[in-house]
Amino acid sequence: MENFASNSFKKKKFVIFGGGFSGQFIANEIRKLGCEALTSSRKIQKDSRSFVFDSRTNALPPEHIFDGTTHILSCIPPEKSGEDPVLSQLHKKLKRLDLEWVGYLSTTGVYGNTFGKWVTENDPVKPLQDRSKRRLRCERSWLESNLPIQIFRLPGIYGPGRSTFDSILKKNIKVIDKPNQVFSRIHVEDIANAILYLLLKINNKNFKQIINIADNCPTSQIEVIKHSYKLLGLKMPEPMNFDEAKELLSPIALSFWEENRRVSNTLLCQDLGYKLIHENYKSGLKSCLEIIKQKNLI
Ligand SMILES: NC(=O)c1ccc[n+]([C@@H]2O[C@H](COP(=O)([O-])OP(=O)(O)OC[C@H]3O[C@@H](n4cnc5c(N)ncnc54)[C@H](OP(=O)(O)O)[C@@H]3O)[C@@H](O)[C@H]2O)c1
Repeated sequence: MENFASNSFKKKKFVIFGGGFSGQFIANEIRKLGCEALTSSRKIQKDSRSFVFDSRTNALPPEHIFDGTTHILSCIPPEKSGEDPVLSQLHKKLKRLDLEWVGYLSTTGVYGNTFGKWVTENDPVKPLQDRSKRRLRCERSWLESNLPIQIFRLPGIYGPGRSTFDSILKKNIKVIDKPNQVFSRIHVEDIANAILYLLLKINNKNFKQIINIADNCPTSQIEVIKHSYKLLGLKMPEPMNFDEAKELLSPIALSFWEENRRVSNTLLCQDLGYKLIHENYKSGLKSCLEIIKQKNLI
């Protein structure tokens, strides 16, 4: 990615709302290109590149954060009310800035249940869960915001520090067998890399406003867990069948099992030419394990 960065791109300033798992990772990748990237948190952080923003307490960023900002990315989920936390507090402010680009991390939950079928950006949205209905409302608010918005629909995000290895090592894993159920996934490195690829390589002619970022290989959860145990050299516990597991799952965990879909990346990877770093979970997990080993966590 470094090779793509032109000198003019290095002058860009990104303000990222929601410096959580993806937000921090993306900020670090942006910094590697020589750009400035600030991230928000709800609490004061030691890092001088962090600022406080909390929509629930109306803690707004200090004015100087926005000086020279060219790019905004929001990685914050919807409010319980369905409002978008950034737009509800800062829409007017953002409109006054001279922004080149605004990105929003959304979810593929807006597609609802496709009963295992592939789903593309051209398919109708049919959110099933309340949280996905709220998400769609936020997407629509961004689309109507009159800002130069681009929306990324993401399936389950994993990466270093957030993978099946971490759940296994924290003894926080349930091995559930539900035949014919698949989940789509994306490694956080591909979220960052795909966004930067689109920013650096795509011009106004083939700009797309809504893009899925998913890997090539929707897979059952048990297959991923089995592979993780194998890589760790540990024995996988006996799987529970889904009916048994239902009793043990929280309502939110259960709700994820109510949807079965394969998220297509054809627009991103074929039409727009992005090459995935991790085409499937095997590649992504291998990379997560290398980091765990480097950090002597096992
Ligand atoms: N995790 C997944 O598998 C997944 C899949 C698809 C889509 N998504 C969506 O993609 C986005 C990024 O996901 P992620 O897993 O990287 O997120 P994450 O680690 O949970 O981080 C969320 C960030 O939002 C901030 N935040 C939450 N509520 C806020 C509020 N009311 N006001 C201000 N800041 C608030 C958090 O602040 P603090 O840093 O103070 O906690 C945190 O920085 C989210 O919108 C998420 O819902 C996630």
